[in-house]
Amino acid sequence: MKKLLQIQDLDKSFAGVHAIDRLSFNIFEGEILALIGPNGCGKSTCVNLISGVYIQDSGKIIFDNQCELYKQTIQERAKMGLGRTFQSPKPFTNLTVRDSVLTIALLYNKTWKEAERKTDEMLEFLDLASSASVPSGKLPIEKRKWLDMARVMVTEPKLLMLDECLAGLTPSEMDNSLSIVKRINERGITILFIEHVISAVMQLCDRIVVMNEGHLLTEGEPKNVMANPDVIRAYLGGDYEHA
Ligand SMILES: Nc1ncnc2c1ncn2[C@@H]1O[C@H](COP(=O)(O)OP(=O)(O)O)[C@@H](O)[C@H]1O
Ligand SMILES: [Mg+2]
Repeated sequence: MKKLLQIQDLDKSFAGVHAIDRLSFNIFEGEILALIGPNGCGKSTCVNLISGVYIQDSGKIIFDNQCELYKQTIQERAKMGLGRTFQSPKPFTNLTVRDSVLTIALLYNKTWKEAERKTDEMLEFLDLASSASVPSGKLPIEKRKWLDMARVMVTEPKLLMLDECLAGLTPSEMDNSLSIVKRINERGITILFIEHVISAVMQLCDRIVVMNEGHLLTEGEPKNVMANPDVIRAYLGGDYEHA
C-alpha cells in the first residue's frame, strides 16, 4: 500500500510544554486511520502541524510522492490535497449555506461554472441542498458540521483530517455522521479520524494510532490495539467498557 503521509520523528514544544515528542507514524492511501489518546496528548497539535497551522521544531512530514512539508502555508497545503475540519466550526454567519461553500470552491476551481457545479454536488451529497439558501449562522449544530465538511470537500482533499467531528452530536446524529464519513472514504479520500468515542472508532476505522504525552503508544488493527491491556487500562479506562 502506498504511504500517503509519513510522520517521522516529529517534535513540537510550546513554551516548555513538549506537545509532540518524537512522533512517527504513516497514513496509507485509502484507509481510515483513527488517532486516539487522552486529552492533551497532542492529537490536535499533530493535525495543526500537518495542515500548517504550526511548524514543527524538528522531524519530517512527507506527503504524497515524497513532498516534504515545511515551509508551505496552510493554503498551499490545502491546494496539495490536505483538508481538515475544526471541532467547533465557525461559518460565515451572514452568508447563505450555498454561498459559504461557493466562496471556498471559487478559490480552488478555474471557472465559476465548475465551482458552482462542485458546490451543488457537495450540498446534495451532504444533505444540505434543502438548506442552500439558509443563512449559515441559522443552521443547527449537525448541519453546521456538514457545512464545514462541504467547504473542505470542494477543495478536493486527498487526506481529510477530522478533529472530533462527532463532538456535541446525539447518538442518532453520530450514526448518520459515521455513514457520511464512510461514504466520503468510498469516494477515494483517505481519512485521519480523531475521536474519543471508541465504539465509533471500532465501527469506522481500518487502523488505530494511540498517542500518549506526545508520543506513539501503539498502533495497529482496531481489535489488536483494543486488546492491549495497557491501552485499555491507562488510556481508555471506563470509556471502552461502556462504549
Ligand atoms: N498553541 C498552544 N500554545 C501552548 N500550548 C499548546 C498549544 N496548543 C497545544 N498546546 C498544548 O499541547 C498539549 C497537546 O494539546 P492538544 O494537541 O490540543 O491535545 P489533544 O488534541 O490530544 O487534546 C497540551 O498540553 C496543550 O495545552
Ligand atoms: Mg484536540
